[in-house]
Amino acid sequence: MFTGLKRLEYRGYDSSGMCIDAIDAPTPTGRRESASGDGLANGSSADGTSSSNGRVEDRSSPIIVKCPGKIENLENLTAEYVQQHNLDTSKVYKHHVAISHTRWATHGVPSAINAHPQVSDANADFVVVHNGIITNYQALKDILKKNGETFVSETDTETIPKLLKFAYDSMTAEAGSGEAQVPFPKLVMEVLTKLEGAYALLIKSRHYPGELVACKRGSPMIVGIKEGPDGSSSSSKVSSGGLGRAASITRLRDQYNDSHWTGALEAWVASDASAVIEHTKRVVVLEDNDVLHIVGGGYGIYNTRQADVETAVPRRLQVLQLEVDQIMKGGYEHYMQKEIHEQPEAITQSMRGRVKQQKSAEGNPYLQQRIKLGGLVETRDTIRRSRRIMFVACGTSYHAALAARQTVEEMVEVPVVLELASDLLDRCCPIFRDDTCVFVSQSGETADTLRALEYAKARGALCVGITNTVGSAISRATHCGIHQNAGYEIGVASTKAYTSQIICITMMALALAEDSISKRERRDAIIDELGALPDKMRSFMQVQDVAMKELAAQLKDSNSLLFFARGNNYATALEAALKCKEVALIHSEGILAGEMKHGPLALVDEHLPIVVVATRDSMYNKMESVIQQLLARSARLIILCTAGDATMQEYAKRSDCQLIEVPGTVEPLQPILNIVPLQLLAYHMTVLRGHNVDQPRNLAKSVTVT
Ligand code: F6R
Repeated sequence: MFTGLKRLEYRGYDSSGMCIDAIDAPTPTGRRESASGDGLANGSSADGTSSSNGRVEDRSSPIIVKCPGKIENLENLTAEYVQQHNLDTSKVYKHHVAISHTRWATHGVPSAINAHPQVSDANADFVVVHNGIITNYQALKDILKKNGETFVSETDTETIPKLLKFAYDSMTAEAGSGEAQVPFPKLVMEVLTKLEGAYALLIKSRHYPGELVACKRGSPMIVGIKEGPDGSSSSSKVSSGGLGRAASITRLRDQYNDSHWTGALEAWVASDASAVIEHTKRVVVLEDNDVLHIVGGGYGIYNTRQADVETAVPRRLQVLQLEVDQIMKGGYEHYMQKEIHEQPEAITQSMRGRVKQQKSAEGNPYLQQRIKLGGLVETRDTIRRSRRIMFVACGTSYHAALAARQTVEEMVEVPVVLELASDLLDRCCPIFRDDTCVFVSQSGETADTLRALEYAKARGALCVGITNTVGSAISRATHCGIHQNAGYEIGVASTKAYTSQIICITMMALALAEDSISKRERRDAIIDELGALPDKMRSFMQVQDVAMKELAAQLKDSNSLLFFARGNNYATALEAALKCKEVALIHSEGILAGEMKHGPLALVDEHLPIVVVATRDSMYNKMESVIQQLLARSARLIILCTAGDATMQEYAKRSDCQLIEVPGTVEPLQPILNIVPLQLLAYHMTVLRGHNVDQPRNLAKSVTVT
């Protein structure tokens, strides 16, 4: 469980916690101490016994350990707990259900109390971990308080176990003793009707020993299924019958309930595949409103939006194409460093099977299909006839759309607009049936982008997805799309996903312009350069790595950094500034050089470092004039230019400014090469400043809350 948590740490890392059943079977006379004290929640101890209606209840409190900080702290604290309580961890577990969580604080500061799991009461009747935000938590809290509940944490999550206990107590009281216990998933479904907002929840309860319920709406969740050593197929254990009553489940429950766990089936539920890959590659991706019930070596999936919520829904078991080494650092010190250096391979993968370098000898030489995007074949004509193409994204993904906008405009000749997902929603931006909306998201799970997608879909627009995560919410909810194939990105600062997104949008533009004879030459020139791009990137990566380390040493103590550019390299300036902000924690801004005279020029002096992007493209002359104006004000310049540019070398000599030289390529692809040294610069500044590269302060990789 700790290994899995560490794999997910990049999604949130300010505090963590876990809950596991107490070790060995409870007996009516045996006593067990549960966790208490700083960082350890719930503190009662009780005996295991049978309840009046004959159900086996685990009356012992589970062990819960929570603490602020990294997973390592949680591991150490758990080890301490085991030692203090003299627990024999070699003993088998009566009920092997454990849940854990690594948190990115939304409600309440990072602390042991606010860390998950959250519990219903001192006995920990219901224990919950939660990703997402319950938007109506205040109203729920008020109702529960009126019913005498007191809250310990500042989290929205704490309302959920309390609601579960409240519902359980009321339903049990209504049913009276002797009645069958309400099935666990049914109880959860009852509570879900009260929750607004987004969630992925894992729930365990001592009223349902050996059972786990997981459910989701708006936040990602998968379940990895591992067959047992007895070779039994997990699919035979999938419930096809009624809620908590399926024959297969009952049979397995009978088989295992009173004996120790035999390992017939392991189920690993997590927010993403990296946490389960070490155990199994067979996963089911849960859909919104799914309720997963794991019991007695089997599982059943129900959906609260089905007419018959008590009948299991079929969900496909998929085999992940992910290897463990893809999620390891592979000789690099940090994921960000590895992912920067992986870019030549990542963009090659994005183009594999899609870009044809050789022109065929047959057919019309003017109309050759050189870009093949299977995902857009059916919608190509609709996209071309759109009133507008609207790109919707957040952060780096938005910058990728900005970098490629001009190419789409030029190739498709349809107005292109860009929208930050949150702003689109804030403004209730008008969207029409004849719009094409393209949602760009590395994770495919960003809540703002997902909400914007729902918004556009409801207005009848054609929705296209560009994501790097197969099976993600955005890839599933869009009508069609392009998968980036850039490989797993773990560093919180997006690097290889950015360059791969520009490639994907460029390929999309080229594919849409395929039968335009007037664009043929230009299209062919871009496609030829796509083929050359990975090697060009490789050719300067090592040299720039060393050069950027030196430059980073000079710039690391700056209070601020500016990046000036124009045209499609405006995206380069914004993206470089974002990298410096988010990992190096240096204030920085990307400035559209055309706006320089309208304000930013006032900041210029001989101290403030300014990076000017002036590669040889249609903006070159204008950028040269920017350089002259900045030098006239004694600015401290670093010029990013095309390798061997004599004019820029002359400026460098005369004015003592530094050059970052990159290979030249066609204008639409130049931002892909230009960003690489700036990513390296941000990386090295972060290391030299002693900050956490892969887990920057206050950030999480997948922002699944709005
Ligand atoms: C910055 C970064 C973020 C993401 C943004 C959108 O390095 O990673 O700005 O780009 O949160 O995430 P996705 O692309 O997953 O939708």
